[in-house]
Amino acid sequence: MGILEIFKSQKKETPHEFSLKWLEVDMHSHLIPGIDDGAKTLPDSIALIKRLKQYGLRKIITTPHIMTEYFRNTPEIIRMGLEELRLGLQNEEIDIQVDAAAEYYLDEIFLEKVESGQELLTIKDNLVLVETGFINKPQMMLEIFFTMEMNGYKPILAHPERYHYLIKDTAFLQDLLDREIYFQINLLSLTGFYSKPIKHFAEMLVDENKVKLFGTDCHNHRYLDMLETLPNSKYFEKIQEMDILNHYL
Ligand SMILES: [Fe+2]
Repeated sequence: MGILEIFKSQKKETPHEFSLKWLEVDMHSHLIPGIDDGAKTLPDSIALIKRLKQYGLRKIITTPHIMTEYFRNTPEIIRMGLEELRLGLQNEEIDIQVDAAAEYYLDEIFLEKVESGQELLTIKDNLVLVETGFINKPQMMLEIFFTMEMNGYKPILAHPERYHYLIKDTAFLQDLLDREIYFQINLLSLTGFYSKPIKHFAEMLVDENKVKLFGTDCHNHRYLDMLETLPNSKYFEKIQEMDILNHYL
């Protein structure tokens, strides 16, 4: 090995200065190639996972959208994609644990799925990640949560800070908290990636200790570029001290 090669290999092993080691497990991302609006190709997925691994994560649970209108994914499609992804990572000798669940869009079709006892992909045990539209409160949101619980599932609401209807409705927010719906905040929300009101709402949820999980919700490199500015947030230290469920996944 020449001097240059030695230098290069040493450089590769230098830990990345931005760290998510404290998070341990990222449980929200879109890294299975070509099945939603996240990573488009296998090399794309691998490059994103390489970056996430450099941050010091020990595990990634990736969560493709399942949305009737746009992303008609099934557990089979997701499992096949996961296999392809794992093989790709193995070939590139990238050693990190990667699992897959889903991010379910709350609608009537989802409710039917739960009612009829169809299999839901879980983050771990009975934990199911769900999302809603950003503007209007879904009519049947509480009914769907109730039905999920009746069927043994525990809902995790993805990025509550991004829902316009929730920012404006503190009574409904309290309703969800009273029902012990787990809140998962996107780390990017604290950087101001989405908007100022979303950032402030996320900060308030952190201040009030309402956050059970954090996720990257990584779709592409733009997300990670911005994520690396997270240490500029005055909440960066605080969130690392929180007792979050990510550690137990
Ligand atoms: Fe997502």
